[in-house]
Amino acid sequence: MIEFNPYGRDFAEDPYPVYAKLREEAPVYFHKEMNFYAFSRYEDVVRGHRDAATYCSSGGVTIDGTEAAMPLLIVKDQPEHGWAKGLVTKVFSRARMEALDLFIRRRTIELLDEAYDKYGPAGEFNFVKEISVRLPLDVISELLGIPEEYREEIHHLSNLTVLRGDEADPSQQAQTAMRTLEIYLTLAADRRANPRDDVISMLINERVTDENGVEHAMSDHEIAVRFLEMGFAGHETVAKAIPNGAMALHRFPDERRKLAENPELLTQAVEEFLRYDPPSHFQGRTTTKEVVLHDVTIPAGAKVMLLTGSAVRDHRAFDNPDVLDLNRPMDGKTIYFGFGVHKCLGIHLARQEQKIAWEEILTRFPNYQVDPSRATRSVLASVRGVSGLPAILGKQAV
Ligand code: HEM
Repeated sequence: MIEFNPYGRDFAEDPYPVYAKLREEAPVYFHKEMNFYAFSRYEDVVRGHRDAATYCSSGGVTIDGTEAAMPLLIVKDQPEHGWAKGLVTKVFSRARMEALDLFIRRRTIELLDEAYDKYGPAGEFNFVKEISVRLPLDVISELLGIPEEYREEIHHLSNLTVLRGDEADPSQQAQTAMRTLEIYLTLAADRRANPRDDVISMLINERVTDENGVEHAMSDHEIAVRFLEMGFAGHETVAKAIPNGAMALHRFPDERRKLAENPELLTQAVEEFLRYDPPSHFQGRTTTKEVVLHDVTIPAGAKVMLLTGSAVRDHRAFDNPDVLDLNRPMDGKTIYFGFGVHKCLGIHLARQEQKIAWEEILTRFPNYQVDPSRATRSVLASVRGVSGLPAILGKQAV
């Protein structure tokens, strides 16, 4: 009997032993109470990502699937998903990403300086609150053109939206999503009236042609929903990924030393941080036809959870998967960003934010310390990571 409570506190603290049991004993696990099937082996999770015709997204991507009611990109199927994604992909142009690199570095330095001025070399502070949430929130806000005055509220609202388990208040969550949408609708309406040189104004004027040759423009509502999605995906994930990396290096001090001595390993290190402890653990799908896998018959219309958090620890795909190894060749097995049509739109940005943040932390504060034993976390729907991580910066390198 496998104890698998995806909204349980113990599971949120450490899901990896449960994943290991699932992979070995029940690679297609049926969760009777919550009515979903779970794929836990790397190969099966990849299959679910790649075969969007059999495993579709329109039934929602979380266990409860409440987000399926919203016209988000992540819950669209083909063909609509294709042209809708084509429209927003234009936001992530090479020129815009290069310009953003400068902003990421400047903002990282400012945040580290602010923390150093406030707490000094030995003062303890919450690394998540002061650094790892603020950096991606400011970066995605800069990209999307979200004014300063809305940023804290957007972060607060998005936190409430993803809470699950005993802290969640479902009656409040619909209102939370509405308020977030309202903010983006206000911005879209404002840019329609007063166009600027930003991506909201750009999307208002964009057109794409669908498979029938019909041109599509985006309504203010669609723009608002797309921004809500990017605003959420763009900051919640990176905000979790940076502390996950810090905690992994704490657990593997030899790897930390290796990285300090070989800074050229950083690009690879960021990938290994994401594999070892990814911020996104579950991707939900719905079967469009009956499927038989590992002797289990899954009916059409069933909810299937692709356990990415388990796939990254599958020994069939990765040698010594429970060990952080900064020399590990990933060989394209970047399952932590998804595969296929719904593959993450913000990969380049996510990599750059983490790489630049680590470059600045490691060169300016090589003796920083974090204390994972006192980290705090909430049970969340689609992301996993800490909301509090005690840290000290240590002496500044000269
Ligand atoms: C470390 C950081 C990140 C991780 C681990 C991550 C992970 C993922 C994963 C696993 C998916 C696939 C979801 C599925 O198949 O259902 C996804 C999709 C997506 N991601 Fe990311 N993400 C990250 C950062 C970002 C950033 C910075 C953005 C910027 C806007 C972003 C925007 C999106 C969007 C819009 C989708 C939906 C794409 C689609 O449905 O076609 N993500 N991400």
